Amino acid sequence: GRPRDLVGRKIVVSAGGTREAIDPVRYIGNRSSGLQGYALARTAVARGAEVTLVAANVTLPDPAGAAVTRVQSTAELREAVLAASEDADVVVMAAAVADFRPAARHDTKIKKTDGEPEPIRLTKNPDILAELGERRRQRSGGAAVVAVADVAVPGGSAMDVAGAKGVPAVIVGFAAETHDVLANGQAKLARKGCDLLVVNQVGEGLAFGTPDNAATVLVAGGDPVEVPFGPKEDLADAVWDLVAARFA
Ligand code: C5P
Repeated sequence: GRPRDLVGRKIVVSAGGTREAIDPVRYIGNRSSGLQGYALARTAVARGAEVTLVAANVTLPDPAGAAVTRVQSTAELREAVLAASEDADVVVMAAAVADFRPAARHDTKIKKTDGEPEPIRLTKNPDILAELGERRRQRSGGAAVVAVADVAVPGGSAMDVAGAKGVPAVIVGFAAETHDVLANGQAKLARKGCDLLVVNQVGEGLAFGTPDNAATVLVAGGDPVEVPFGPKEDLADAVWDLVAARFA
């Protein structure tokens, strides 16, 4: 059985992948299935947490015991995650969020024309994970969190920032990398201000839409944890072990 070590914790998990409308029938999207985020939600419920799952374009059935909010675009995902984060202890951003969206959405379906098609101009989406990290930095007065990043054991962080109102004590990001996995991951952990960053290698049948995953979990102020190839529940439990340790 699983430890009941997340009892009383309010946890927000985002899952799936956002879609950005081009016109009423077309969108820019990604291959995320939501399986990893759903595994995180299921295992967190099993460990006693109160889970809000923000699901972007996922076709899986709602996990029992979690409150599910379904969204499509990055703007919708952002709104749902930030709102739920106001009274959450932990936020896990497992969703694949579109980095860009069409600068303008056509009100009517784009028609085939005789000439060349119009290029689609893109604009940057807000980075929700970085925003959560920044919000926490601001509300907790900056210095405390900077110091937390230097603690040598995974345990100092959560309580130090627990006093900050409306910000999650533990922020977890995911990063799919195709090369220089660890170097890119460490830089991203620092840049986004999260406590844990789950880095998985993607491509060649890895991760997307499959029931298994392998990853390295980078820990702010601690040693990385390798999670060997196996069911996505195993990776989820490894993440919750590390999250629970930060409250210990
Ligand atoms: O920078 P990159 O997209 O690789 O970072 C991935 C992590 O950041 C994931 O946890 C993802 O959910 C989050 N993210 C986000 N908002 C974005 C892009 C990514 O929250 N616009």
